[in-house]
Amino acid sequence: MDKLSITGGNPLAGRLRVSGAKNSALPILAGTLLTEQPVTIRNAPHLHDVTTMIELLGTLGADVVIDEKLNVEVCAGTLGELLAPYELVKTMRASFLVLGPLVARFGQARVSLPGGCAIGSRPVDQHLKGLEAMGAQIEVVDGYVHASAADGLRGNDVYMDVVTVGGTENLMMAACLARGRTRLRNCAQEPEITDLGNFLSALGAKISGHGTATIEIEGVPALHGGSHKIMPDRVEAGTYLVAAAATGGRLRVMDVEADILASVLEKLRQAGADIKIGEGWIELDMHGRRPRAVDIETAPYPGFPTDMQAQFMALNAVAEGAATIRENIFENRFMHVQEMNRLGADIEVHGHSMAVVHGVGALTAAPVMATDLRASSSLVIAALVAQGTTLIDRIYHIDRGYETIEEKLQQVGAQVQRVT
Ligand code: UD1
Repeated sequence: MDKLSITGGNPLAGRLRVSGAKNSALPILAGTLLTEQPVTIRNAPHLHDVTTMIELLGTLGADVVIDEKLNVEVCAGTLGELLAPYELVKTMRASFLVLGPLVARFGQARVSLPGGCAIGSRPVDQHLKGLEAMGAQIEVVDGYVHASAADGLRGNDVYMDVVTVGGTENLMMAACLARGRTRLRNCAQEPEITDLGNFLSALGAKISGHGTATIEIEGVPALHGGSHKIMPDRVEAGTYLVAAAATGGRLRVMDVEADILASVLEKLRQAGADIKIGEGWIELDMHGRRPRAVDIETAPYPGFPTDMQAQFMALNAVAEGAATIRENIFENRFMHVQEMNRLGADIEVHGHSMAVVHGVGALTAAPVMATDLRASSSLVIAALVAQGTTLIDRIYHIDRGYETIEEKLQQVGAQVQRVT
């Protein structure tokens, strides 16, 4: 199993390019199932989760071709058995996003329930409630959701009583081919949802309000083919900026827009970073200073993203002062704390959702284990500041969400090697 070996102490310095967003590529790839015509996806990141989604599309019977520029062309003309098997869904929860497109286009689908996962129970009740409101019959049999709508879906008003990114995406896609108008309320407003809405519009969907709490969709009988460029990965960009801040470095991230990172940049400024913004780039300079501790509270967009919580924990671990971190989205998302404390951090967890971090002068290397995607990137940041060489095990978690992380970090002066 691959490991990362990181020798800490070098401030990050230089420039790096941000890849396409994983959390945008996954729903958009699922959305290619809505049309029988070919769809080209540009700027898809080369990541394990994206490969899993492509494998799922292939299992369903879609033709998928990846060209020399890494564009992904999907043609879901005729599909085979409309079944998303447990083996694929269990490895990646976003596989559940094929349910809405399949039932909308074919009137039936069987998709495995995602099941438990390391960061909490993560139910799909809102997805199912919304599809039922659009006329689907839902049964759960032996861990599989059987959805059917023999006469097609009907548009309806749906209020989601939890703000859910995946739920909003599944229902948006389903509504594109439903008869009549759907009004989705209390929607998640993440930029990836705006990107999905723009993609669906490019295929001929009549959709408005994506990126706000109310999305309206006027169903059409069919979508056509098209092409779409995936937006930049704001979590990848944020992670590298935090790594630069924690190491007292200076870094420019390119191919990214600052407006999708507003809450993160604000916290970095509070931590003492000097931030400059240009067209398509963000530059952070710590002027060699140690960061100041910053309180964090996660919330749905435009609040502070849960996917950046662990990285700020690492920053606070070496900051001046103490900070409180509140995790309000997931119930079990502090698994990195134990590992960070092995590196000499001083972090206490109170209940499920609060941690208090007392910044320490230095961390020291130790063998650690990645437990989930963002937790593992926080360990990378901690290792970049720790004295000595840290070995991070189970980095397949990192490969789910960070494209060629060791190459990008080497490019900006970090001492990182992948060891097998
Ligand atoms: C997406 C992101 C993930 C991010 C998360 C929150 C993708 C592929 N993944 O995950 O990186 O951390 O948003 O920003 O885009 N919930 C329910 N019922 C439901 C659905 C969700 O109670 O039917 C709860 C979940 O348990 C969780 C909260 O809602 O507590 C948010 O989950 P959700 O927004 O759905 O996350 P994902 O779409 O799975």
